[in-house]
Amino acid sequence: SDGGVVTGILGVASDLTEEMQLRSRLRQAEKLSALGELVSGVAHELNNPLTVIRGYAQLLSGREDAVAASRELQAITEHAERAARIVQELLTFARERPPAREAVDLNAVLQSVLDLREREMAASGIRVVRQLAPGLPKLQGDPYQLQQVFLNILTNAEQALAEGTGEGLIEVSTTLAADGYVVAAIRDNGPGIPATVADRIFDPFFTTKADRQGTGLGLSICYGIVNAHGGRIWADSTVGQGATFFVALPATAVEAPSPVEPAPAPEATPAPVGRYILILEDEVEIARLVARYLERLGYRTSVAHEAQAALQMIADESPDLVLTDLKMPGMNGREFYAALCGTRPELAQRVIFVTGDTVSPDTQSFLSQTGRPHLAKPFSLEEVRAAVAAALE
Ligand SMILES: Nc1ncnc2c1ncn2[C@@H]1O[C@H](COP(=O)(O)OP(=O)(O)OP(=O)(O)O)[C@@H](O)[C@H]1O
Ligand SMILES: [Mg+2]
Repeated sequence: SDGGVVTGILGVASDLTEEMQLRSRLRQAEKLSALGELVSGVAHELNNPLTVIRGYAQLLSGREDAVAASRELQAITEHAERAARIVQELLTFARERPPAREAVDLNAVLQSVLDLREREMAASGIRVVRQLAPGLPKLQGDPYQLQQVFLNILTNAEQALAEGTGEGLIEVSTTLAADGYVVAAIRDNGPGIPATVADRIFDPFFTTKADRQGTGLGLSICYGIVNAHGGRIWADSTVGQGATFFVALPATAVEAPSPVEPAPAPEATPAPVGRYILILEDEVEIARLVARYLERLGYRTSVAHEAQAALQMIADESPDLVLTDLKMPGMNGREFYAALCGTRPELAQRVIFVTGDTVSPDTQSFLSQTGRPHLAKPFSLEEVRAAVAAALE
């Protein structure tokens, strides 16, 4: 069975190459921490010029006399955004904040990630098989970070399958290993990992996708997160037959696996996420970025570009949380907040403000009067995640 294969590989890996693995893990940890220090400084320095480049490109593309240059402006905007994305990933990566620790159901995390990617994978003709062991013990961890781990691995598998011919298959399975670790395996039937690159795939910036704008950070971020959870991540591959990525995480000892717990239904939406967030932001690209990121974390989102439209959407759809810009044409963020206090006071208690680079004393006093949290541009995606999670508590 597939469960048997997984356990077998785990056994072989730890028996034969334990010392090698330990050495390579230490080397990896050193590299990551040195890089983390360097990177956080550089990333902060890059954020401001990027915001300016992107801002001006967008300002120009709105001008009538810039129609002839619209393609070039589009390219500038796209590349600035890509650079901003790299900077933000680097900041996530460099952050030394210890991850949240809560009881996490590994199957639920995998379900939420699969639900997120399901439609696109189906559209690419990829068949997904889920073999999630029922009654797994919970683990202590940060569900959002773990989602990111599996999203990165799954995205890599999807990309690997895009290379190959034949029917794409991704198999996601979980097992409880004999050593008390819960183990997730993500197997694809793509081209596999050539031996020449196998020991570098977890290195920061190692990528074979330079032509496709790969940053080479995906797996090193996975490594960092799994390591911080006291777990292990490794890959096994036969060239031409595909690759399997394993993530083993220590289970919480107190909770014994319960045989009566039913297997999770495929359509079950897992608990930690799935809430509905309205983003009110006149800047389309920022709104889109925030929406994309929140969706990646498993939230449902809607975007409104002006306050009146947002109020209408709130009346119709009743979101759990609203993220709103302060400076907007027409009704601004303050007026929007005042309106919300009148019509939906309980939702006004679940507003997060977004502020520009410079916050005037006036704005500062408004923010402290409301007692609501705010995100300052250019915010990191991690900051969005943390603010949203805290506000929804
Ligand atoms: N499922 C897989 N099959 C084959 N090769 C893989 C697979 N997953 C990862 N790799 C290899 O590992 C390399 C590093 O992966 P990683 O996720 O760190 O970066 P990337 O995918 O290249 O870039 P990014 O994650 O920024 O898009 C990839 O470029 C690819 O060569
Ligand atoms: Mg990747």
